[in-house]
Amino acid sequence: MKERPIILGIETSCDETSAAVLKGDELLSNIISSQIDIHRRFGGVVPEIASRNHLTAVLPVIDEALAAAGVKKTELDAIGVTYGAGLVGALLVGVSAAKALAYALDIPLYAVNHIEAHIAANYLATPELRPPFLAVVASGGHTGVARVDGLNEFVMLATTTDDAIGEAFDKAARAVGLPYPGGPEIDRLAKLGKPIIKLIDRKKSKAELSYSGLKTAVINYLHNLEQRGEKPNIPDLCASFQTIAVDMLVDRAVATARATGINTVVAAGGVSANSYLRDKLKADGARHGLTVCFPPMSLCTDNAAMIAVRARDMMRGGIPPAGLALNAVSYLKLGESGK
Ligand code: KG4
Ligand code: ZN
Repeated sequence: MKERPIILGIETSCDETSAAVLKGDELLSNIISSQIDIHRRFGGVVPEIASRNHLTAVLPVIDEALAAAGVKKTELDAIGVTYGAGLVGALLVGVSAAKALAYALDIPLYAVNHIEAHIAANYLATPELRPPFLAVVASGGHTGVARVDGLNEFVMLATTTDDAIGEAFDKAARAVGLPYPGGPEIDRLAKLGKPIIKLIDRKKSKAELSYSGLKTAVINYLHNLEQRGEKPNIPDLCASFQTIAVDMLVDRAVATARATGINTVVAAGGVSANSYLRDKLKADGARHGLTVCFPPMSLCTDNAAMIAVRARDMMRGGIPPAGLALNAVSYLKLGESGK
């Protein structure tokens, strides 16, 4: 393997079409074409519409990423593509484009696990980061605390028993009447409020990571006020929801760090862009002597830079590339790589 292979990353798992070019440890380009404005009027991602938009965007986005990097297709050494988890129709667009390119260029194709890639985004921001470390996984589809034992070794230690944290942010925001995606909206409004509404009794549910009850508590709270003819204080409600949602996960991460003796913790996934999560993890981490790392904001939500990084590490670890029979999969656990 070349010391600094040039890798094209492709990501189409949800509502972002993205392509990036990585040369060794250096990110040369990362183009993200977001469909958020298209899905907003439906209050969430419509899978069929997502697939169709990926179809029109994927090749122009790849060309733009190559042009921005100043790299010709023929200079590429490998391609990495998200093959799961995500919306199957959306994933298939990226997987098909990646397979066609890899075949035409006769270069290896790496099948990238989306959540592992979110974790790997930290290697871009913190190049000196080395396993073992813990990862707070906080995205629209996955939530938990993972242990990273090696470049290609991931173990999920604790996971939500029901909804993912990002899903809870989006559903709570929808109940409050905020536009999609609700996470950034709650983050913004929470700064104007105080976390004084007791939505759930955290002492009772301390042992487990669970978001479905919290989302229902927001809905019930709004219904109760409506029945009494009262209006909610939206900033206080956002601050209260956000505090409980984030505390649950960060407390679990700190407890896991203390139990395992692993004192480096990284954040991964779209919700790691949340300002309260970043502040709390930094503050609690500092109090317990932990080193805390975050991807830059631009690499928290879905992007192809993290896919290229993950493909590079699979290459470095000698994980075999995927064949042209590679298919998209909707569910994929952490640690299920390179199938
Ligand atoms: O990782 P991601 O881009 O996609 C998945 O892999 O699921 O995560 C998307 C999630 C959405 O639920 C979105 O509302 C949430 O990340 N999100 C945030 C913030 N920015 C994005 N949640 C809370 N605060 C934010 N600032
Ligand atoms: Zn994601």
